[in-house]
Amino acid sequence: MNSGILETAKSDLDRNGFLDIAVDPKLDLFVEIEKLKKEKNAVILAHYYQEPDIQDIADYIGDSLGLAQEAQKTNADMIVFAGVHFMAETAKILNPTKKVVIPDFKAGCSLSDSCPPPLFQKFKEQHPDHVVVSYINCSAGIKALSDVIVTSSNARVIVESFPKDQKIIFAPDKNLGAYINKVTGRDMLLWNGACMVHEIFSLEKITRLKHQHPEAKLIAHPECEEPLLRMADYIGSTTGLLKYTREDDATAYIVATETGILHQMEKASPEKTFIPAPPDNSCACNDCPHMKRNTLEKLYLCMKYEMPDIIMDETLRLAAKKPIDRMLEISAAAGL
Ligand code: 13P
Ligand code: SF4
Repeated sequence: MNSGILETAKSDLDRNGFLDIAVDPKLDLFVEIEKLKKEKNAVILAHYYQEPDIQDIADYIGDSLGLAQEAQKTNADMIVFAGVHFMAETAKILNPTKKVVIPDFKAGCSLSDSCPPPLFQKFKEQHPDHVVVSYINCSAGIKALSDVIVTSSNARVIVESFPKDQKIIFAPDKNLGAYINKVTGRDMLLWNGACMVHEIFSLEKITRLKHQHPEAKLIAHPECEEPLLRMADYIGSTTGLLKYTREDDATAYIVATETGILHQMEKASPEKTFIPAPPDNSCACNDCPHMKRNTLEKLYLCMKYEMPDIIMDETLRLAAKKPIDRMLEISAAAGL
């Protein structure tokens, strides 16, 4: 490789978010990535919303809680995080001596972006008698302002660990917060944030689909809006949804979350039918544009050149780690 091309790619990294270097199309990336894993003692952690090829080469695929637990305990020297930025950042917070690389540094999250730390700091100051419970889909700056972090698979247990009369701010996802309020009977104060992928489903099209497939169950992620959740037969995190389709005896499911999860559902239950819940847009796609910035080529490049990698200010890291540690302790005690 011409060193000039590499130097140009490195200097453009901030602008592009990834190393923009052409990959030889004759390379078998599955073979090359396996080689790099061994050479560098690397582990690939992938979220269920990643493209199928990335899921197939990953060492571990999971939801946000599983990925954080895996990142905390890994002995690998390099964590290759195939997910979005807040997930890779969480891995670095938990395991700072490891190099954490991400295929595309610009793989962000609309939910995380809906809660800027300076605004949230002011909001928190207006409610000094509240504790702050934050969904893991937020920046390290928000985590540092929180008392405890939750994911969609442990939010209920963690909120219920507080006394009934404890005042709580829940950030940043108003839909998950409203759902947890409903199932726990709490009245948490909700930050007005939401995920762009889970708010675009069309109730009208889903109702039509249900009529066309009366045998299909509707399953939904709790980031969806309340009217959709009210129609759902099951609500859960990505891992919860996958487990449900494996263990349940229905033959078809309408899946209201990002489409990446269908890959594992189809692998686990090839005899069943999985229909992505239709969104209210003309392209009929409910892919997360942030998650889907990662590609197999970018994954290969970030492993080969060990960049872009997550670098954190140590004071911020320590402040953000406290509420994540608390989440992991409560989850472990609850057997999650
Ligand atoms: P879980 O995989 O933890 O359910 O979260 C989904 C999500 O929002 C990822 O963006
Ligand atoms: Fe963020 Fe929504 Fe994408 Fe998840 S699916 S990374 S919450 S924008």
